[in-house]
Amino acid sequence: MDIKIIFLAFLVCGTLYLLARAEPVEDKRALLDFIDNINHVRKLNWDERTSVCYNWTGITCNHDNSGVIAVRLPSSGFQGSIPLNTLGRLSGLQILNLKSNGISGTFPSDLLKLGNLMSLYLQFNNLQGPLPSDFSVWKNLSVLDLSSNAFNGSVPLSLLNLTHLEVLNLSDNSLSGDIPDLNIPTLQVLDLSYNNLSGAVPQSLKRFPRSAFLGNNISPENSTSPAPPPRIPPKKHKSKLSESGILGIILGSCALGFVLIALLLVVSHRKKRKDKSTTEASPKKEKVVSEHQGNGGRLTFFEGCNLAFDLEDLLRASAEVLGKGTFGTTYKAALEDATTVAVKRLKEVIVGKKDFEQHMAIVGNIRHENVAPLRAYYYSKDEKLVVYDYYNQGSVSALLHAKRGENWTPLDWETRLKVAMGAARGMAHIHSQTGGKLAHGNIKASNIFINSQQYGCVCDVGLATLMNPITPPAIRATGYRAPEITDTRKATQASDVYSFGVFILELLTGKSPVYSSGGEEIIHLVRWVHSVVREEWTGEVFDVELLRYPNIEEEMVSMLQIGMSCVERMPEQRPKIEDVVKMLEEIRGVNTGNTPSGGTRSPGSTPSRLPEIGTSS
Ligand SMILES: *[C@@H]1O[C@H](CO)[C@@H](O)[C@H](O)[C@H]1NC(C)=O
Ligand SMILES: *[C@@H]1O[C@H](CO)[C@@H](O)[C@H](O)[C@H]1NC(C)=O
Ligand SMILES: *[C@@H]1O[C@H](CO)[C@@H](O)[C@H](O)[C@H]1NC(C)=O
Ligand SMILES: *[C@@H]1O[C@H](CO)[C@@H](O)[C@H](O)[C@H]1NC(C)=O
Ligand SMILES: *[C@@H]1O[C@H](CO)[C@@H](O)[C@H](O)[C@H]1NC(C)=O
Ligand SMILES: *[C@@H]1O[C@H](CO)[C@@H](O)[C@H](O)[C@H]1NC(C)=O
Ligand SMILES: *[C@@H]1O[C@H](CO)[C@@H](O)[C@H](O)[C@H]1NC(C)=O
Repeated sequence: MDIKIIFLAFLVCGTLYLLARAEPVEDKRALLDFIDNINHVRKLNWDERTSVCYNWTGITCNHDNSGVIAVRLPSSGFQGSIPLNTLGRLSGLQILNLKSNGISGTFPSDLLKLGNLMSLYLQFNNLQGPLPSDFSVWKNLSVLDLSSNAFNGSVPLSLLNLTHLEVLNLSDNSLSGDIPDLNIPTLQVLDLSYNNLSGAVPQSLKRFPRSAFLGNNISPENSTSPAPPPRIPPKKHKSKLSESGILGIILGSCALGFVLIALLLVVSHRKKRKDKSTTEASPKKEKVVSEHQGNGGRLTFFEGCNLAFDLEDLLRASAEVLGKGTFGTTYKAALEDATTVAVKRLKEVIVGKKDFEQHMAIVGNIRHENVAPLRAYYYSKDEKLVVYDYYNQGSVSALLHAKRGENWTPLDWETRLKVAMGAARGMAHIHSQTGGKLAHGNIKASNIFINSQQYGCVCDVGLATLMNPITPPAIRATGYRAPEITDTRKATQASDVYSFGVFILELLTGKSPVYSSGGEEIIHLVRWVHSVVREEWTGEVFDVELLRYPNIEEEMVSMLQIGMSCVERMPEQRPKIEDVVKMLEEIRGVNTGNTPSGGTRSPGSTPSRLPEIGTSS
């Protein structure tokens, strides 16, 4: 007995000790000292009580959580100089990314203590004065990007001590004097453009393209370098990546994604070797935004966002087209630090920057488990982007209407119920915003996703008000639009309810809102359901895939009644969305998402406002 207790005590103490040990306390202190002593616009979730390794934005620890190895805080609105004796204490730091901030002052001497540093990104800040002259501590540095600052003085010859350097970007500063003979064999990317350098390009650097020296006072004869850079890895010609794509890969390899990227390259390399004609095999990969369009711009993040990237990362990310929708193309973008986001590139935004920002501020602060959170946005003359969480299951539309082939699993009834319930709750939350006035404006199956609890989750909130009105024929074509709506910007809560009704019918029938019956005839789902129900063939409307589940007919009929009440012709006859939520909950009794199928619904619980429907056997 006693031994047991002692053993237990040991166990508890041991566990507590391990738990306490499970994070790098000193690194955490250093980070807190850093954040407490620098102005920052974007609020960070760096709470002393949470885990620095798991819960802090932008922080990556090593595998046993004994040290911080990466700090990635681009576009975080830092202002002023980096406080002394803070970041310099992160002795295990390998990656520091503070680009696109407003950091000023001279080169942060703290960083010259970081002996393990491999990548340093400080571009797009306001740093000035000379570059450091002693680099001997950075034995392992492979990426140094100090571009787009205001550094002056000369390019130090001591850079030669960076024997592992692969990328050196000093472009867009005010560096002057001669270009030193930087004969670093490992160097693969060099950019000294747009400074005030003079003289000739040293022999050892002639292997770099002319663009590396543009915008200086270098005599043209001496700057022309006919020889292409020999050290560019062969992958360049094999894969169809742009130069910045290669840079991305080099940078990326320094991060945790190394293995994945290497694998990717190996695979693509192999593919190419196997069959040259398969080069066209991946047409879906593209860039979210073309290079020059977003230069220097900043993403605006919303509070509570646990992401750390900037526009440059988005540009660099390889993106997969997820879909082309009413308001633009949506991409899946995989970022350097292994996060994945959905980026929507908006076309035909008709409001000005101020209105856009105001609207984003409203939408961006909506937080509800059934509303896909808007994480960030970007606005410039040429480009408008919105960034959402990525849902790996795809939209309900994709799940419902994917090609019904051999690998297709139909959505089961349980999931369809939860999807409807979640989406309705999300909409109710949206409708309660801005004094109960906000409407979504574009409810449809391709804007509804499935969250981690398998409930529906509404995306694309309120974009309709920002966009060019869709012309009437297109409205008809989508099949979700309430009959009274002719201008998408004038969407109302009642028209949202109509669209939601169409969505419910879609879930029940498995049919698209507008579809062709095989012949040339176009069928509108709402009209079709009406006609079938009128003929008292209610059983015929349901998706054949649902017939396999026993004892759900009563639930399906209840849901059909709800759907039909939502698609009433007259807006004032449609229920409010919060009533729809209640009705949906009554199908199963509140919150009983887990009860097995089979009529727990109490008799007579059908709300009286519902239309009479022919049959319900
Ligand atoms: C911290 O991260 C862990 C693991 O990712 C998660 O389970 C936990 O909910 C997070 N805590 C907070 C307060 O965010
Ligand atoms: C440099 O990196 C190697 C592994 O790549 C590591 O073993 C070594 O300790 C690092 N050197 C310094 C000074 O950090
Ligand atoms: C160097 O940085 C600038 C931005 O500061 C960027 O436009 C340029 O493409 C970079 N050079 C290379 C070779 O990547
Ligand atoms: C660099 O700029 C600072 C002011 O920004 C100036 O005082 C200094 O003389 C400059 N140095 C050189 C070498 O131009
Ligand atoms: C490289 O660093 C060593 C000290 O580690 C120093 O003596 C030497 O001068 C440096 N080389 C250059 C080119 O600055
Ligand atoms: C560029 O350098 C020259 C001397 O080489 C100097 O006269 C000129 O003022 C510098 N320009 C700038 C913008 O620093
Ligand atoms: C080119 O550079 C060399 C030194 O590298 C110099 O002797 C020569 O005069 C330069 N040519 C011109 C046209 O400036």
